[in-house]
Amino acid sequence: MKASVCTKYGSADIIVIKDITKPIPKEDEILVKVAYAIVSPTDCSFRTGKPWIARLFSGLLKPRVSVHGEMYVGVIEDLGCNVKDFKVGDRVYGSNGMKLGSYAEYNCVKDKTLIRKVPDTVESKHIITLLDGGITALPFLRDKAEIKQGQKVLVIGASGSVGSFGVVLAKHFKAHVTGVCSTANVELIKNLGCDEVIDYKKTNYTKLDKEYDIIFDAVGKSSFGACKSILSKEGRYLTTVPVLSTMLKLLFKKKQKGKKDLFAATGLRKIPQKHKDLEILEGMLVRENIKPLMDNEYPMDDIIEAQKYVESGHKKGNVLVRI
Ligand SMILES: NC(=O)c1ccc[n+]([C@@H]2O[C@H](COP(=O)([O-])OP(=O)(O)OC[C@H]3O[C@@H](n4cnc5c(N)ncnc54)[C@H](OP(=O)(O)O)[C@@H]3O)[C@@H](O)[C@H]2O)c1
Repeated sequence: MKASVCTKYGSADIIVIKDITKPIPKEDEILVKVAYAIVSPTDCSFRTGKPWIARLFSGLLKPRVSVHGEMYVGVIEDLGCNVKDFKVGDRVYGSNGMKLGSYAEYNCVKDKTLIRKVPDTVESKHIITLLDGGITALPFLRDKAEIKQGQKVLVIGASGSVGSFGVVLAKHFKAHVTGVCSTANVELIKNLGCDEVIDYKKTNYTKLDKEYDIIFDAVGKSSFGACKSILSKEGRYLTTVPVLSTMLKLLFKKKQKGKKDLFAATGLRKIPQKHKDLEILEGMLVRENIKPLMDNEYPMDDIIEAQKYVESGHKKGNVLVRI
C-alpha cells in the first residue's frame, strides 16, 4: 500500500511516498481504507521533533513510527473476529493518538481506540474536523471557561481550526463572540457567526477599552499578562499553547483568585470522555447543520506542500490530505 513515510526529524522535504506492507487486522483490530487524513500543526511537530519536549513521546533521536498522521476518516475493509461493534463497509472516523499511521492507504486500529461510525447525513470531510478543532475547543470553553449564556468571549485566532470551532461553540452556548483575525479573514469570521471582528493587523486588542469574560487564544499568540487589562474581574484566559508560568500554575495546582490563566490538553483526555464530546459535536453537525471551516485539500502525493502550508501558520480552518 502507498504511505507517506518519515524516518527522521526534519523539514517537510524529508517525507517520501512509498509502498509498504498492507497490514492484516488481528482479532481485535479494524482495517480502515483511509479516505482523508487531517494535517494539523501537531502532525507537523511529530515530523520536526519540535518542541523538544514532544520527543519524550515521539522518539528521542528519530520518530518512533515512520507513518505519521493522527486523524482519519474512511471505510472499514476488514475486521478481526473479536470486533463486535463494527462491520465491513461502515464509514468510520477516528484518531490514532500517538500510534499515528493515518497517512497511508490503510490504517489498522484496535477496536478500543477512538473510532466511531460517521452519521449518515454527515460528509466525511466535515466529520474528521471534529477530532481536531472540535474536541479541542469544547473542553476549553465548556469545562475550563465554564462558558455561560450572554458572556463576552474573545477568540484569538478565530480563522484557525481550533479557533473557528471556538467561535461556533461559543455561539452554540449563546455567548457574545468577538473574533480576532487578519484583514484577509474578516468576512470569513463574520460568516462563522461572530458578533464582532477585530483585525489584529489594524488594532491592538489588548489596548482596547473593553472587557471579556473569556479570552480563548486558540493559536497561542497572546499572553495572560498582555490580556489581563481586557479580562473581566473573574475572567478566564485560556490558551492552547501554554507558556512555562501557565504550566507551573497547573503543575503546582496554584489557586488563582480573580482572573485566571488556564490550559487544557485534549490529547491527555480519556477515550470515553472524547466519545462523549464527539457525540455532542456530531449532534451539532446533524441538527444545527454546522459546516466546519475548510481550507485546501491535497492529494497524498502533495503531502509535503500540505505540511509546508500548515506550518506557515496561516491556514483557514482545516487542511486535509486525500488518500
Ligand atoms: N492544547 C491542546 O490540546 C491542543 C490541541 C490541538 C491543537 N493545539 C495547538 O493549538 C494551536 C492552534 O491550532 P490550529 O490548528 O487551530 O492552528 P491553525 O489553524 O494553524 O491557525 C492558523 C490561523 O491562526 C491565525 N493567526 C496567526 N497568527 C495570528 C495572530 N497573531 N492573531 C490571530 N490569529 C492569528 C491565522 O490567521 P492569519 O493568516 O489571518 O494570520 C490562521 O488562520 C496549535 O499550536 C496547536 O498545536 C493544542
